Amino acid sequence: MDASEIGHQKLKDWVASIAAHCRPDAVHWCDGTDAEYERLCGELVDAGTFIKLDEEKRPGCFLARSDPGDVARVESRTFICSKRQVDAGPTNNWADPEEMHATLWGLFDGCMRGRTMYVIPFCMGPTDSPLAQVGVEISDSPYVVVNMRIMARIGNQVLERLGPDGEFVPCVHSVGMPLADGEGDVPWPCNETKYIVHFPDERAIWSFGSGYGGNALLGKKCLALRIASAMARDEGWMAEHMLILGCESPDGEKTFVAAAFPSACGKTNFSMLIPPDAYEGWKVTTIGDDIAWLKPGRDGRLYAMNPEAGYFGVAPGTSEHSNPNAMAAMAKNTIFTNVALTADGDVWWEEMTDEPPEGITDWKGRPWSPGSGEPAAHPNSRFTAPAEQNPGIDPAYDFPDGVPIDAIIFGGRRPGTMPLVYQAFNWTHGVYIGATVGSETTAAAEGEAGVVRRDPMAMLPFCGYNMGDYFQHWIEMRSYIKYLPRIFHVNWFRRDEDGNFLWPGFRENMRVLEWIIERCRGRIPGHETQIGWIPHWEDFETEGLEGFTREDFERVMAIDREDWKREFLSQGELYLKLHDHLPKELVFQRELLASRL
Ligand code: GTP
Ligand code: SPV
Ligand code: MN
Repeated sequence: MDASEIGHQKLKDWVASIAAHCRPDAVHWCDGTDAEYERLCGELVDAGTFIKLDEEKRPGCFLARSDPGDVARVESRTFICSKRQVDAGPTNNWADPEEMHATLWGLFDGCMRGRTMYVIPFCMGPTDSPLAQVGVEISDSPYVVVNMRIMARIGNQVLERLGPDGEFVPCVHSVGMPLADGEGDVPWPCNETKYIVHFPDERAIWSFGSGYGGNALLGKKCLALRIASAMARDEGWMAEHMLILGCESPDGEKTFVAAAFPSACGKTNFSMLIPPDAYEGWKVTTIGDDIAWLKPGRDGRLYAMNPEAGYFGVAPGTSEHSNPNAMAAMAKNTIFTNVALTADGDVWWEEMTDEPPEGITDWKGRPWSPGSGEPAAHPNSRFTAPAEQNPGIDPAYDFPDGVPIDAIIFGGRRPGTMPLVYQAFNWTHGVYIGATVGSETTAAAEGEAGVVRRDPMAMLPFCGYNMGDYFQHWIEMRSYIKYLPRIFHVNWFRRDEDGNFLWPGFRENMRVLEWIIERCRGRIPGHETQIGWIPHWEDFETEGLEGFTREDFERVMAIDREDWKREFLSQGELYLKLHDHLPKELVFQRELLASRL
């Protein structure tokens, strides 16, 4: 397609102005066709960015190895540039929007020399959805184009929705490595200087220096969470870091739930759960694995829509045992980034099989063996796979209005303190539980892994405005939803003194899900504790769970007063940080917890 065919003058003018400033060798408008995708993948192979995997074993699949310094989101270089600093709040990096624009303008000056500039019209959500939002990403990375094609609806279908004057979120991305005359490229161009910048007032995104994941695929965290959360606050809906799943019982009753866990804490796994053998006739289906847009429906229920079209999932830990649906989803037409390569042209990562195959090449391209002392795949290595390849996809996954939600589940990686599951007493208490979520940090972001930090609603790195105002928005949503979802907290990650998990997790999480559904339907009593409702042993399904005794249940459900006093005090640090915008409802919730304890 060439620019003369585009009917949207404002879009054309904007693209022309960015091209004039970044000075690429060529401009390509992406049409989103198979032919375009295949041509770009071929070019990425020629450039050394992609390795074509074995066509028999992984048809249509490629492996990319990033620069070792560009392997995860960089929260320290992520900015929310609202007009006033107070609107970004104390948990976001802020810079004055005018100053930031000037800085970026300098960085982007000529930054695409020697490269092609791609224009990617994309739609977050089904193109026929009233909830969907259109963006246009300009990028000098063909890797970004092919990943965006899997992760979002892109190309002509989006221009059609946009029409001659539709609204779009402008997103500008550069790897930040111009090529001087005749200079050769590297397989993974990037820049040590990185900026991932959001302008929530003008609804624009600029990203410089990284080609990886959420830093570069700007529809995902940047638009669908940071910018969308600000839009949602203004317009009365919610943009959340949540999976959405459907669960059908043997008698055909269907329940949809949404769950917020921090990065690399099991959303993809939970959204693709296959019930254990004891649950014959039960079915779990995936609507989404990472992001949910929620809006009150006309019938008074809260509806959830998945704005994405693919999965950008954590590879390590994924196996036929832990997540067969994910394994099936990535059997073909998938882009792998920073996993290991096998001798026969397939991929491998830690825990994919019990024994690693012989002759592995690690994510840095070096020969690897179990004695190498480092993992073969980067801990944040990922697969980009089309959602439609998931055998467990829910038929409603692209319904324009989304699906009605009965439960909202919060969770985190907590080695102690937090029981396997508990239920909030009411919506406001549930907001308090979400607001105080804590989790061990993971490899999904830069920095040390394994330290417990507060990650309210799993949105700490993704909220596009003041976190205190965000809590207020959550509290206010109560009055717009007639049939409020029940709110729960889960912890699959509690450990014993020797560091062993107290709960088998993965498919066995179905047992917790069933309890949650039964509670939502009001069919079973809960046991009231200081922190919320927990299951009675008698109501918790353990059939087929070999060797899991009542003592094991009590250990994984234990609520220890000393632990909770520490928890209470540590939550206070977050409250102190947010004090000037903290809703008083949450202050009172904390007091209530203190008095119950
Ligand atoms: P993002 O894509 O970063 O937002 O992450 P995610 O929340 O989708 O995480 P994902 O499902 O990819 O989980 C990543 C890690 O959690 C893997 O190492 C899994 O093995 C582990 N995990 C998932 N579910 C469970 C569980 O039930 N128990 C235990 N112990 N580990 C789990
Ligand atoms: C996360 O970190 O929560 C992700 C991966 O889903 S990324 O898209 O890189 O942000
Ligand atoms: Mn995520």
